[in-house]
Amino acid sequence: MNTDNRYRWPHKDLLDVTRLSAEDVLHLLDTAAGFQAVNQRPVKKVPALKGKSVVLFFVENSTRTKTSFDVAGKRLSADTFSLGKSGSSLNKGESLKDTGLTLQAMSPDIIVIRHPDSGAAQFLADLLPCGIVNGGDGWHAHPTQALLDCFSLRQAWNNTFAGRTLLILGDIAHSRVARSNMHLLTMLGARIRICAPRTLLPAGAEHWPVEIYSDLARAVDGVDAVMCLRLQLERQQAGLLPDLAEYARRFCLSAAHLRRAAPGAMVLHPGPMNRGLEISDDVADMPASLVLDQVAAGVATRMAVLYLLGTRNDNGGRA
Ligand code: CP
Repeated sequence: MNTDNRYRWPHKDLLDVTRLSAEDVLHLLDTAAGFQAVNQRPVKKVPALKGKSVVLFFVENSTRTKTSFDVAGKRLSADTFSLGKSGSSLNKGESLKDTGLTLQAMSPDIIVIRHPDSGAAQFLADLLPCGIVNGGDGWHAHPTQALLDCFSLRQAWNNTFAGRTLLILGDIAHSRVARSNMHLLTMLGARIRICAPRTLLPAGAEHWPVEIYSDLARAVDGVDAVMCLRLQLERQQAGLLPDLAEYARRFCLSAAHLRRAAPGAMVLHPGPMNRGLEISDDVADMPASLVLDQVAAGVATRMAVLYLLGTRNDNGGRA
């Protein structure tokens, strides 16, 4: 934990990693490390958020983010409640504004929202006094995914980001994970390469602080970690990828590719994985794969997020 007791967590909401300072991020990662130790005990529960309530408002499908926020809230002794599109009055045409105001009337402390529209979390944060956590909005941002990825890499890289290189591989154009990770890891001192077919690079990528590749064999050369991204077929317009077999031949990370990376290089994937399309079976399951470590890190990191937001007003903002 950050022992500097002058530090105050300053944020009502967590909408985007671009709003965080390096000090915020390191404090959050240190807090998550404390909760990771809690998660390894026989009794994985602390009373930190007893009496607080957290709403999980997921308008888009999720396994990892929703479940880990639920587990995180319960391990902090908060009460957690779920609302999805299916089974809610969103399906009767109720607006995001009216749904948000309705939830607020039940006095939650925090709402975690996942929504297909970029900006939905910001909209609720501007509207409601409770804390809002962005659990992924459109192509825009997925801040807790980037934070948990940083947590995993920080452990793998012995607390040092400077001089390390991460390759982000695959469907960059549609990836909120790529955008959030690029910002966060660059801020912490890592170098980022991206590799994708031209049609899966976003407009303006040449202005990002990254090196851009289209040849995977060259992109992977000497890197310290590779993050494979899911090919987001559901978000793509027709014609971006005429041939999935050709995509897999050129961009699916294999053990042979990984042998060109730095010794001890790690593999990450935010999940869910399309095995055989962006990551081969053997790579997904090899010891260098951090995929399940990322899931475990997600619980600890989301505990830290809920704790910092949920206790912000309790003791003058000191965490
Ligand atoms: N990485 C991630 O956001 O996974 P889910 O969609 O399962 O939450």
